[in-house]
Amino acid sequence: MGRLDGRVALVTGAASGLGLACARRFLDEGAAVVGVDLSPAPAEAPQWGAFHQADVADEEAVAGIVGATVDRYGRIDVVLNAAGVAGGGPVHLVDAREWERVLRVNLTGTFLVCKHALVPMLEARSGSIVNIASIEGIEGTEGGSAYNASKGGVVLLTKNLAIDYGRAGIRVNCICPGFIETTFMFESVMGLDGMSQVREQYREAHKLGRFGRPEEIAGAALFLASDDASFVTGHALVVDGGFTAGMRTGVLEPLGL
Ligand SMILES: NC(=O)c1ccc[n+]([C@@H]2O[C@H](COP(=O)([O-])OP(=O)(O)OC[C@H]3O[C@@H](n4cnc5c(N)ncnc54)[C@H](O)[C@@H]3O)[C@@H](O)[C@H]2O)c1
Repeated sequence: MGRLDGRVALVTGAASGLGLACARRFLDEGAAVVGVDLSPAPAEAPQWGAFHQADVADEEAVAGIVGATVDRYGRIDVVLNAAGVAGGGPVHLVDAREWERVLRVNLTGTFLVCKHALVPMLEARSGSIVNIASIEGIEGTEGGSAYNASKGGVVLLTKNLAIDYGRAGIRVNCICPGFIETTFMFESVMGLDGMSQVREQYREAHKLGRFGRPEEIAGAALFLASDDASFVTGHALVVDGGFTAGMRTGVLEPLGL
């Protein structure tokens, strides 16, 4: 028996990386999964209930996808917001249009999907929303500006949603991943020329000594989406291999630690 048997899950950013890993895991656990992404469904796709190629920051498109999902399945039980883009830099060099692009997808997109999916959830008086934020939404990183502000916004939006909709039986949580090896977002930053030393520093900052895998975020998302987390709401779950635990100097290395 799957932990999401009979549930309907809407997953954004579903064409790659964390969204795709979550879609796969939800499907394995018995959910009907509706994917949303700007990109087309990947060739080795899971058995989507439906897949919509759309922009999460386009309110009309989001409303249409939610409507089509409810028409087909009668409800939405789970929302996983993973659509996102990287971007930032030192503030005095950040073009205002770049700032708006990042905020528009990461924060406004999350807001719009929540806004529309909440309507059928309110009717059912149940539901679980999981937003993918970031450790960069709870602490800063050099040059993080737009991205970090957008993810900080997702963390607080999550908490406010949890306050507003808890009495309606709707739980809202977010995950703050550390650095996870994904083909596009991770490699678009860490794979840049001249980044090998920085990449190594970031890897070292994860106390487990490695970057994360998409499946490790999917496991946390499944927990939050499922009834196993029935008393968890308003939580920002850090899944970061110890990145934010504190400083490691290596002084214990002679002990093999
Ligand atoms: N990879 C990491 O290290 C990491 C760490 C923390 C948080 N995150 C967050 O996890 C999420 C997924 O990241 P990823 O690493 O899997 O990246 P990714 O680039 O592999 O996946 C992001 C997906 O979002 C889609 N997307 C982008 N803009 C969109 C839009 N306007 N509408 C619909 N879809 C859109 C992309 O097409 C892509 O398929 C993002 O929100 C990211 O900020 C990633």
